[in-house]
Amino acid sequence: MSFIEKITRRSFIKKAIITAISLELAYVFINLLKKGSETNVPANLFEAGDIELFEKGKIYPFSAQRFYLSRLQDGGFMAISTKCTHLGCTVQFKNKDNKFMCPCHASAFSVNGEVLAPPATRALDLFPITIVNDKILVDTNNPQRRDKHNKSQITYA
Ligand code: FES
Repeated sequence: MSFIEKITRRSFIKKAIITAISLELAYVFINLLKKGSETNVPANLFEAGDIELFEKGKIYPFSAQRFYLSRLQDGGFMAISTKCTHLGCTVQFKNKDNKFMCPCHASAFSVNGEVLAPPATRALDLFPITIVNDKILVDTNNPQRRDKHNKSQITYA
C-alpha cells in the first residue's frame, strides 16, 4: 500500500466520520425545532388565542368556527354558538345594542346568550372552553345545549 493510498483512505474515513456527525447534529437540531413549534393543542380543539388578546366586556367573532368569544366584565370567557335556537339562522352581535340579534325572526340574546326576545325560547348553545398555558381552547365539535344562562357556564383562567 503506497503512502498516497494511506492518505486517501485516511481522508475518506475522516470525511465519512465528519459527515456522520453532521447528519446526527442536523437530526437533533430539526427535532429540537419541531418540539419548540408544538403547542400540544389536541386536534379536536380550536385555539382562539392568548387570554391577554381579549379585553373584558368585549365580544370577538370567530365566524369560520361559528362562535363568538365573549370576555365578560369579570374576566370570564364564554364561547357562544352563532346558531339561533329558534330555527338555526346565524345570529349577529350588535355592538350598538350590546346584544345578539337573529335576522330571520328577530330573536334577541344577551351577551351571555340568554333570550331577551322571542320567538327563541332557550339560550344560545355554548362550546366548552379549556384554558391551558393562558391559551383559550374551544371544543367547536361539542355544542352544549342549555335553557338559561348561569354562572357555572363561564370559564375562568
Ligand atoms: S331562526 Fe332566529 S329567530 Fe327564527
